[in-house]
Parts: sequence; C-alpha cells; structure tokens
Amino acid sequence: MGHDREREILLELVRVTETAALKAARFMGTGDKNAVDAAGVDGMRGMLDLVRINGTIIIGEGEKDKAPMLYNGEKVGLGGDAVEVDIAVDPIEGTSLVANGMPGAISVMVAADKGTLMPFPTFYAHKIAVGPEAKEGVSLDEPVRVNLHVVAANLGKKVRDLTVVVLNRPRHEALIREIRECGARIKLIQDGDVAAAIATALPDTGVDMLMGIGGAPEAVITAAAMKCLGGEILTKLYAPDKDQQERAANAGFKDLDETFCADDLAKGDGIVFSATGVTDGEMLRGVRFEGDKCVTESIAMRYRTGTIRRIITTHDLSRKTIRGSSGQELRV
Ligand code: FBP
Repeated sequence: MGHDREREILLELVRVTETAALKAARFMGTGDKNAVDAAGVDGMRGMLDLVRINGTIIIGEGEKDKAPMLYNGEKVGLGGDAVEVDIAVDPIEGTSLVANGMPGAISVMVAADKGTLMPFPTFYAHKIAVGPEAKEGVSLDEPVRVNLHVVAANLGKKVRDLTVVVLNRPRHEALIREIRECGARIKLIQDGDVAAAIATALPDTGVDMLMGIGGAPEAVITAAAMKCLGGEILTKLYAPDKDQQERAANAGFKDLDETFCADDLAKGDGIVFSATGVTDGEMLRGVRFEGDKCVTESIAMRYRTGTIRRIITTHDLSRKTIRGSSGQELRV
C-alpha cells in the first residue's frame, strides 16, 4: 500500500467499522442475532463501496453460497486502478453478545498488502494470545502449566496473579481444570475472542493471556492487531474428525501440528486495522445513543509506524445518513 495510501485507507476503515457498529447497535438486546449480523453486514458493505481500494475479501462471512455479502473472494471498494489489498472482516464479532446486550462485541476489519493475509478456512483453531512483554517462550507445543509459568515469569508476576481469558465452552473443560490447578485466575467469556485476545496486548485491561479453541478466521484478524501492538497470537488449526482433516488438506493445510504465529497469518508491513465497540468492553466502549447524537469509540492501528489511535466520534443522527449495501442513504 505504501505510507500515503495506508494513512488514507485506515481512516476510511474507521468509517466502515463505525457504520457497521452503529447499525448493529440498534438491535442490542433484541435477542435476534441474525438481525444484528444483517445490520452489521449491510452497514459494512455499504461503506466499503466508497473506499478507494481494489479489495478482495480473504476472511469474510464464509463461502459465497452461504453468505449473500462479504463472502470470501468477494471484491470490495471502488476498484478501478485503486491499490489491490487483502481484506479481513468481521462486521459484528460477537453477534450473540449484542443480541443479549452483553459486553465485548466489536465491529472489526483489516486491510493488508495483496497476498499477505492467510486464507484460513472456517474451522476452529487452538489459540494462545499474549501481550508484548509476555510473549517470549510461549508455545502451543508446551502444556498449559508451562505456558502459565513462562508468561508469569515474563511479566514478573506469580501464576496466581495471572488472569487468563477462556471462551465458556464445554470443549474447554480440561483446559479450565488445568488452569485452575495451576492457581491462575480465569475470566470466562461467552463470545468474542478477538477483542479478548487484543486486550491482552493493551495496558490496564486486567487480562494477561487468552487460551483455548475459537474460530480460525478470527485468528487472522487478531494477528493483524497483535502485529500492530507487538503482541503475539499462536494458532494451530483444529480439525478433530476425518472429514474436517480432509477439508483442511484440500484447503492446503495438511500438517495440523504446524503452529502459525501473527507474522504468518498477517505477513509483511502493509497492515491497517480498525475496530469499533458495539457493546461496552475492555478495549472499547459500546455505541451510545443520546437524543439526536450517537457516540462511537474506535481503535485504529497501522503496523508500519506502530501508531495506535483511539477515535471517539459524535454522529449527528438528525443529519447523518448511513449508506446501505444497495447504495441508498438510510437513517440510522
Ligand atoms: P460471531 O462473530 O459469529 O458472533 O462469533 C463469535 C465467537 O465467539 C468468536 O469470537 C469465536 O472465535 C467463535 O465465535 C467461537 O465459536 P463457537 O461459538 O462455535 O464456539
């Protein structure tokens, strides 16, 4: 992309994630996760059309036949002779969180130089995410106990003072037991492991580590953020049955023991990242509606320079319209 284009594109991405967050936030607490997702996708797709890029979605809402918009392989942006980029999106990361009015949902997207984002299939992946000071020596090939001790030593803490975030899933029963046996503290989350992983690399979030199995596409988005923040995410694809192993092999992932780090999932220097809070979380405040005004909080990062911006935007809803995916201007 180069400096100038990265700068421009990054601020455009903020407008994209803001719009998706704004539209989806209207559905907070409705219990309808499909409506939340549809609103986020619609807002993101509509704004993306205005961005001066020639983008290809590498990580999106899934395969073309399953997703009407933002599917893997879809072309986005103004196109023409604009710069070619890889795109990773999660219009609403944590749709159930929004539907239930729970914390930690974000809208998130990444643009990166063409050919640099890993086209991870829509599988699960083992993950460990840690911040810059904690990452040295962490390994997915080591037992949980060893990783906890390594991170504690790196941070100059006792294991019992560590806080480890884990998705609250039956598949994590053994992991949770092991962390408890080591004496570390656990924060269970219902959904949203992208924001939770990134929080480990931000100051004052109170979380030191994320462990467990979550979505593989989400790991690529997390990797882009971790590179910008100097943190790390280690992943291995998780394909427990024969059918999935075959699908992984067909997608080019034969060795399921291979660990991918942030730099494998998001290669090179041309990486820009934007996320906007939908519901309140450790990383970002959620969308607030106050009379005719609405406030969003976003984080915008660029790897090449390491700049991390927090952008608080007041939207005047009496004047603002939001572009829907079919091009029409809509009220929020
Ligand atoms: P959505 O974006 O579909 O709401 O997914 C949220 C999420 O919790 C991710 O953060 C996580 O990686 C994945 O789902 C976990 O998958 P599962 O809910 O199947 O355990």
